[in-house]
Amino acid sequence: MHFRPAVETDLDDLLGCVVDESISWAHPDRLLSFLESGNYRYDHMWLAVSEDDGEILARAVWWGFPGGDRPLAMDCLYVHPSVGDRVELAAELLRRAHAAFGTKPAYHVFVSNGWREDPKALAAIGWRWEAAGRAGLTEELERLRYEWTADEPVPEQSDRLVFRGDDDDEVFVAAFRRVAEGTLDHHTRQALTTMDPEAQAREDVDGYKSMPGDRSWWRLAYAKDGDLVGVALPSANNAGPVVGYLGVVPGHRGHGYVDDLLAEITRFHAERGVQRIIADTDLGNVPMARAFERAGYRKFSIRLVLSADPVNA
Ligand SMILES: CC(C)(COP(=O)(O)OP(=O)(O)OC[C@H]1O[C@@H](n2cnc3c(N)ncnc32)[C@H](O)[C@@H]1OP(=O)(O)O)[C@@H](O)C(=O)NCCC(=O)NCCS
Repeated sequence: MHFRPAVETDLDDLLGCVVDESISWAHPDRLLSFLESGNYRYDHMWLAVSEDDGEILARAVWWGFPGGDRPLAMDCLYVHPSVGDRVELAAELLRRAHAAFGTKPAYHVFVSNGWREDPKALAAIGWRWEAAGRAGLTEELERLRYEWTADEPVPEQSDRLVFRGDDDDEVFVAAFRRVAEGTLDHHTRQALTTMDPEAQAREDVDGYKSMPGDRSWWRLAYAKDGDLVGVALPSANNAGPVVGYLGVVPGHRGHGYVDDLLAEITRFHAERGVQRIIADTDLGNVPMARAFERAGYRKFSIRLVLSADPVNA
């Protein structure tokens, strides 16, 4: 067995890997379009190939921003059906790739609602989960995926908040920092265990700036007396328009402002003719999940995120 990153001449063999299990994967259309956009790179795909005939026996594919030199998330884990111990082969492939990357990006898997009761989905996830765990991705997080579609009513504009853009990133860094206090969002809480609040806020702002959504869409929300209430960032990812990020500063929580911020984002996208808006939130962020449900967003799937403990990442 030989472990190595992919190269351009592997393309036909990469396209020949087929995952026919109940799980998201880097299928040929996705592979080709993300190679073209720069979200996938050959050196961010790792292979285990047979020493005898060069056949791909395992393949892992990571995603990143175009031009970014580090992969940010693993998208697909494939092992050829002929392999006996697929868990160990996949785990070894991930260990080698992590060592080469110098980081252990999280594995993002998309599954349907009710996956825990679906034997096919459980089987597809089960061995990958075990392999990811052996390679150090031991933390699990379930994120709920919501969608708003244009057949839902467009929400009214808030009559108690004023929304304004601001070209100064520092203003958003300061607002993100306040909104992160006491957050129920797992990723932010985890980041705050290893970073100071300002660095964490800056990293988030930089992350949202790298997304395909426009920086000029970002809004700060103020009460009538000029006090900052929160942030509302309509955005977009490779798949289309997303809610992006929203948050309420601690002193204004518990007054339902989350509904005004979400309405602003939904209205903003709807008014530019968007037909579908996607949003994710953690299973444990109950106030946010309730707000999506009140605003006519429908839960359509689940994103499972398997990541390294932040101190071992
Ligand atoms: C999620 C969030 C936007 C909710 O804002 P909000 O305007 O306070 O929401 P609501 O007014 O609907 O609050 C609903 C309930 O949840 C409680 N609550 C809200 N945020 C809370 C938090 N972070 N921790 C504990 N309880 C919280 C409120 O006190 C309220 O309780 P009550 O009904 O007993 O009064 C806000 O908590 C927040 O900014 N969190 C940090 C950022 C975040 O998680 N953004 C979403 C990322 S997807």
